[in-house]
Amino acid sequence: MIRSPVDKQLVSDIQKAINGEFSAIACYKSLAEMAPAKDERSQITEIRKDEIRHLEEFKRIYISLTGKQPTPQRLPGCPSTYKEGLDFSFHDEQKTVDFCLDLAERMDGPSFKQTIRRAAPDEQNHAVWFMYFIHKNQRKRHSERQQQPKLTALKGH
Ligand SMILES: [Fe+2]
Ligand SMILES: [Fe+2]
Repeated sequence: MIRSPVDKQLVSDIQKAINGEFSAIACYKSLAEMAPAKDERSQITEIRKDEIRHLEEFKRIYISLTGKQPTPQRLPGCPSTYKEGLDFSFHDEQKTVDFCLDLAERMDGPSFKQTIRRAAPDEQNHAVWFMYFIHKNQRKRHSERQQQPKLTALKGH
């Protein structure tokens, strides 16, 4: 049987998607540990579970296309503070939505297409959560700043 030649660009983009999921899994582990509230920590852990599922799905696609096991690479850029981590993750998730939709478009085979396309709304959902956490933490910092002078004033009495 003659196998049609594998589209190199497609394989390299699947590899890129694998690296992205692999890096997000590592990044969200430390982000969850830095989370100041329990609900944020458990939501980030849920998001991380989605990325683990995506990674497995993308690995399967890679193996079907190449017959080889992929070697995931950790991408740089995961910040070391919670605030920067949320900001980075929000942008990263938004970019991943577009990347998945574009990749699904170019992919051959309806089941591969569907698998990749299905990841897009998950990533969009993740972006919304990160945006909510950014706002929540901004509000918290703002109200902490507002309370500061009152406390000082009280102490003066
Ligand atoms: Fe993902
Ligand atoms: Fe995601």
